[in-house]
Amino acid sequence: MTVSGSTTLTPSFPLVFRSARPADGATLWRLVQGAGTLELNSQYFYLLLATDFGDTCLIAEHEGEAVGMVIGYQPPREPHTAFVWQVGLLPEHQGKGLGLRLLMAWLALPANTHCQWVTATVADDNTASQALFKRLARELETGCEVRPHFTADLFAHDHPAEPLYRIGPLARGAPARSD
Ligand SMILES: CC(C)(COP(=O)(O)OP(=O)(O)OC[C@H]1O[C@@H](n2cnc3c(N)ncnc32)[C@H](O)[C@@H]1OP(=O)(O)O)[C@@H](O)C(=O)NCCC(=O)NCCS
Repeated sequence: MTVSGSTTLTPSFPLVFRSARPADGATLWRLVQGAGTLELNSQYFYLLLATDFGDTCLIAEHEGEAVGMVIGYQPPREPHTAFVWQVGLLPEHQGKGLGLRLLMAWLALPANTHCQWVTATVADDNTASQALFKRLARELETGCEVRPHFTADLFAHDHPAEPLYRIGPLARGAPARSD
């Protein structure tokens, strides 16, 4: 699937977007590792995601090479919410507006088109990610609420708190659901 961005989203840089296939587990693992600052989980875990949640995971390719990804799913108790678990680009493609294009293309995946909210948890020290999600809310002309979610005491060992960013409601043709 190819999704072109709006004029504000550097559409001149050619990217092909597609959902993940079961065979993409290793691709997701390599992209997360390559992005630099993301927490890398086991290869098996990315295989599970690509196999069972591939419809809500996006891979961005440039000239046939995977350069970025969005790993997401719809929380079972919030079927109208699209949760972003990890988003990343290879370092040479960061800081050029492509992160925003990735999220817009991810939201346009067939499995996500009914979603009226976007959520993600973002650590307080991740300024790039904070800026990205606030920018997404501006691009979608909607709100971005930030509230406590995974507090530091919930982690087994030293880990910063991960507040929840909740973006929406999104204007997608149907009356907004609160989830
Ligand atoms: C986070 C990431 C996906 C953002 O994509 P990007 O293409 O670099 O970001 P964009 O160019 O689309 O910029 C989006 C916003 O983030 C800001 N931003 C981008 N990189 C930033 C950085 N390193 N520090 C602070 N802000 C940053 C931009 O200024 C922009 O905000 P603005 O519109 O208010 O100016 C990308 O930088 C990345 O892969 N980082 C490593 C992995 C990571 O940390 N992922 C997020 C955690 S899940």
